Amino acid sequence: MHNFKLLALVVSATSPLAGAVSTQSYSWSNVKVGGGGGFVPGIVFNPTEKGLAYARTDIGGAYRLNADDSWTPLLDFADNARWNYWGVDALATDPVNTNNLYLATGMYTNSFDPNNGQILISNDQGNTFTPSPLPFKVGGNMPGRGMGERLAVDPNLNSVLFFGARSGHGLWKSTNSAKTWTQVTSFPSTGTYIPDPTDPTGYNSDKIGIAWVTFDSTSASSGKATPRIFVGVANLGSNNIFVSQDGGSTWAAVPGQNDTFLPHKGVLSPAENTLYVSYSNGAGPYDGTLGSVQKYNIATSTWTDITPVSGSDLYFGFGGLAVDLQKPGTIMVTALNSPDGQIFRSTDSGSTWSPLWEWISYPTMAKFYTYSTSLAPWIGPSTVDLTPGDLQIGWMMESLSIDPHDSNHWLYGTGETIYGGHDLTSWDSKHLVTLESLADGIEEMSVQSLVAPPTGPLLISAVGDDGGFVHTSLTSPPSQEFQTPKWSTTADLDYAGNFPADFVRVGNDAGSATQQVALSTNSGSSWNIDFGAALNVTGGKVAYSANADTVLWSSSTNGVLVSQFTSAFTAVSSLPSGSLIASDKRNNNVFYAASGANFYLSTNIGKTFTKVSTIGSSTTPAKIAVHPTGLFHSTNNGTTFTAISGITQAWAIALGASATTGGYPAVYAAANIGGTIGYFRSDDQGTNWVQINDAAHGFGSASSNPITADLRVYGRVFIGTNGRGIWVGAPAGAAPPPTSTAPTTSHSSTSSTISTISSSTSSIHTTSTTSSSSTSSPTSTGGVQSAFGQCGGSGWLGPTACVSGYTCVAQNPFYSQCVPS
Ligand SMILES: *[C@@H]1O[C@H](CO)[C@@H](O)[C@H](O)[C@H]1NC(C)=O
Ligand SMILES: *[C@@H]1O[C@H](CO)[C@@H](O)[C@H](O)[C@H]1NC(C)=O
Ligand SMILES: *[C@@H]1O[C@H](CO)[C@@H](O)[C@H](O)[C@H]1NC(C)=O
Repeated sequence: MHNFKLLALVVSATSPLAGAVSTQSYSWSNVKVGGGGGFVPGIVFNPTEKGLAYARTDIGGAYRLNADDSWTPLLDFADNARWNYWGVDALATDPVNTNNLYLATGMYTNSFDPNNGQILISNDQGNTFTPSPLPFKVGGNMPGRGMGERLAVDPNLNSVLFFGARSGHGLWKSTNSAKTWTQVTSFPSTGTYIPDPTDPTGYNSDKIGIAWVTFDSTSASSGKATPRIFVGVANLGSNNIFVSQDGGSTWAAVPGQNDTFLPHKGVLSPAENTLYVSYSNGAGPYDGTLGSVQKYNIATSTWTDITPVSGSDLYFGFGGLAVDLQKPGTIMVTALNSPDGQIFRSTDSGSTWSPLWEWISYPTMAKFYTYSTSLAPWIGPSTVDLTPGDLQIGWMMESLSIDPHDSNHWLYGTGETIYGGHDLTSWDSKHLVTLESLADGIEEMSVQSLVAPPTGPLLISAVGDDGGFVHTSLTSPPSQEFQTPKWSTTADLDYAGNFPADFVRVGNDAGSATQQVALSTNSGSSWNIDFGAALNVTGGKVAYSANADTVLWSSSTNGVLVSQFTSAFTAVSSLPSGSLIASDKRNNNVFYAASGANFYLSTNIGKTFTKVSTIGSSTTPAKIAVHPTGLFHSTNNGTTFTAISGITQAWAIALGASATTGGYPAVYAAANIGGTIGYFRSDDQGTNWVQINDAAHGFGSASSNPITADLRVYGRVFIGTNGRGIWVGAPAGAAPPPTSTAPTTSHSSTSSTISTISSSTSSIHTTSTTSSSSTSSPTSTGGVQSAFGQCGGSGWLGPTACVSGYTCVAQNPFYSQCVPS
């Protein structure tokens, strides 16, 4: 019904940009999901200033608590060059000068992060930071990240800090408020524990190292360096808690300790002269099948085992540990992981404990809490479907804190949110507390794909761990995540151009009991499994034909597949594994694809593809974007591409509503333009670009971030991040005048399509005019990976297929591995 028309723009690295890129003021805010969406390994209250507390996350930076229970993000300035600031492995709030905040940041200690870590120093409670570089890597998203805190400020002489490194780098000390650091060479252990020495990626085969540093504040007076310091180390079966009596000059193993398990937390109860320690037999955050809780009486040098449960009731390790500084002897501890999470509380220093819930007679539970997720309704209670218990209280519970100024106020972090409440002492008086999701302001989603459809809801998202959402509001949380089928991670989604309420999504749950393709005819409100998919096929990218009859799927496990009318998916042999794909939004017969430098076209609903052009010589396309009602066309269906000057690298691209009726669609790109890496908009198909992000909004790693543009509202664009949720931006100031003259372009008032390809690596970007539904991701060079080799992950350019007998399984956003099928 429409002529297929395509405009192709190619970006050449070699062409200099005409002038400096100008900027336009944009207002940015999170698309509210609420409730976190990821792991919160640390929550730390300042012991001195009432109400001051911070939370750290593993991939989404750090946050400061507000008086109304909401949280303020502190590291949104982290841009592509500083993406590893979002991995916060430890935090310390200064008990003396409470304006001082220190964060140990860095994402991975293996090759996933090429950069060393740094201590970020703030003197204004996290509003601004100065980095102090470290000569080694820091692993905010590594195993053992919930142990801690590894970073501590001397409570008597606050210019002194200690930091416990990973990877065998040992214990470090600063005497100038974290500006410079030196290794404490007298410290006797750097930690030998390694979660999995056989992991070829280095992710599970690195040493966890020093786990925590705890000053005994009572051992000195203000102004003098604290002599007694306890340090926990990730050693299993050898001494793992050490103490100094002279401010860190000399060290000895704490006598009488039990080194059967790893010490996760060492928390001082000053009034009791006691160190409480939680232990687990794994480093966490996912493991732990045994553990204990111990207390050490500093005056008498005696240890007491105060583990809350024993025998067959003990099938978990312990993580979070809190003391109530207002009520010495009141302590709490969490089961780090267990099929049914658990929290214990004692008011007699661990002699007796009471649980947050218990079995009445299996499977009936007594829950000593009421539960509210009004701030993030999608969280529960069904989200944590732990049949038969149907418990809500969480898992991966490494952080647990009681407000040092308010015995009723407590918070704990889980794999998905922060829970807590304001009536904690009701646990003792009534054995009933109010649990609430208290993570308002924390937006920690790892966003995989975004679609702003032309009609219906404003936005539909595919996210890691929490499935995905239909966003009918940008400021209120969604009521539920994708249901039936429910997958942990939705890898991608797309809509049908002529039936824009019709959606397809693909999941990434290897080994799931459901096929990993689902279809919706109501903009994602409900879904049906596409039984044309085989059970063992997962992940990748998906494209829906314009009339919603055909699904083209560039899977991460089985190459490119196609299915019409939900028939069994069959291989598309004419496309390489890992190809980028997109559907035309008007012509049901047409799909686009790209792999390597080759651009492909199908005019028979995806059955076969023909190479129609080569996009330069050394280009790896990152994205094809198709606009449903673009007004531009080329007459050659993508057989040639035109260079856009000045762009040396681009990761994601999207097409949105035009500035003027009948004008060019706005083009948005995450790109390096003229040496500036950022987020840009062009209203004249690539001649003039304005930068739309600013110094306060860096959005982390550009290569991880999907972009989609609003087709209804000019200027509005959505950016998905890997750890800081979804952002919406809209113009807040006038667009600067163009500096270059737009090329003459053939112009049509008929509906047509625009397809866009951007290069992730090199000299050429192809911007043709088409869809906004695939996330940015470099394209595999094809081929087949050998056993246990890497087969995917952010930035991966190698093979995504595995040798026979092996399946490519995502281990994390940065690494997929060929494991035995
Ligand atoms: C050390 O802890 C383990 C595990 O709790 C326990 O089985 C063992 O008896 C303890 N050893 C001593 C000497 O107390
Ligand atoms: C572009 O492709 C469409 C679909 O096959 C075809 O109908 C049209 O003639 C092509 N246009 C040109 C100029 O090749
Ligand atoms: C999935 O199952 C099919 C049919 O049993 C098989 O041919 C294919 O090799 C399997 N793929 C993977 C990646 O295991």
